[in-house]
Amino acid sequence: MSRENHMGSKNNTLSRRDSLTSSSAAFTAAAFIGKMEGQKMEQTSGWDKSLSGKVAVVTGAARGIGRSVAVAFARSGAHVVGIDICTTVDPRSGVEPATPDDLEATGELVKGAGATWKSIILDQRELPKLRNAAADVEKEFGHIDILFANAGIQAFRPLLEMEDADWHIQIDVNLTGTANTVRAFGPAMLRRGSGRIIMTTSTQGRHGTFNGAAYSASKWGIIGLMKSAALELGRHGITVNCLVPGLIDTALTRHEERYEQALQLAGRTPSGDVKADEAAARKVLQVRSPLGVPWIDPAEMAPMVVFLASDAARMVSGATFDVTGGDSANNV
Ligand SMILES: NC(=O)c1ccc[n+]([C@@H]2O[C@H](COP(=O)([O-])OP(=O)(O)OC[C@H]3O[C@@H](n4cnc5c(N)ncnc54)[C@H](O)[C@@H]3O)[C@@H](O)[C@H]2O)c1
Repeated sequence: MSRENHMGSKNNTLSRRDSLTSSSAAFTAAAFIGKMEGQKMEQTSGWDKSLSGKVAVVTGAARGIGRSVAVAFARSGAHVVGIDICTTVDPRSGVEPATPDDLEATGELVKGAGATWKSIILDQRELPKLRNAAADVEKEFGHIDILFANAGIQAFRPLLEMEDADWHIQIDVNLTGTANTVRAFGPAMLRRGSGRIIMTTSTQGRHGTFNGAAYSASKWGIIGLMKSAALELGRHGITVNCLVPGLIDTALTRHEERYEQALQLAGRTPSGDVKADEAAARKVLQVRSPLGVPWIDPAEMAPMVVFLASDAARMVSGATFDVTGGDSANNV
């Protein structure tokens, strides 16, 4: 079972935990815990400028995975356009909204890496705004080479209790919004006869998610979208692939609702004290993680995305690429 699916099968969670604590595996896991976590790797030098002169568009760029990849693109020589909504998307998700300051902080890091930066605040559910943005970028930079379609949201609601809005907001933002970015930025790549599109899906797009049907459906949908786009755009020199992150240390993941779920599914009772629940959830997730990490640093996503965006990946299309800290070993 994937760590990101810690809301998944309760029986699986318990049986795996129980087997760990009742066997020598417990000793191995305990000895290993913390080792990998201490090995955070943000690669600040040694990028080989494989994206030199490329123009890269990143959605969800204000923070988290989007920010890490925007900075890695810059360190690899690309000009970066960062797009984000920078406000509350779903007030019921328990996730703090990104702000315009967050987006500008990404911009400072991009510029600090010696790259040109342009920021655009918009909601990716709005196709006309994305199309205007694409026209502006093409006018200003002359071309668009890379789209990292990464923005997304997540909330948990039991399927039979959710309201229409719970379903629509996640499908609209994650699936329709991602398709919108391709529809808006794809034509510039088509005119150029080359391009790289990388979409962010999730391990929850590889299996079901307890109390997370809308998110899971949206992320499975992104894989179908990616494969269809790869078929349609390949003849125009455009590759299309998906990044599959595991459980990543970002605002989307690190909040009380998620800690509570992790604890409940491990048969524990959340205390309601955020710090205590975070510490307890950390332990639960670490024991379940093949590489002994509760959450992966978002910077760990960047090398895979930079590779997929590079010329070296020209024969790679229509595929998913997992960066999950070993959780992929539990997927069938
Ligand atoms: N954090 C994880 O564990 C994890 C795991 C798998 C997949 N993902 C996916 O990775 C992507 C990035 O997530 P993150 O963890 O960095 O979270 P995050 O909340 O830190 O970043 C997401 C960004 O997307 C922006 N955004 C949301 N809705 C938008 C919209 N309608 N228009 C424009 N921007 C919008 C947000 O403002 C935010 O800055 C998401 O698609 C998420 O589903 C995350």
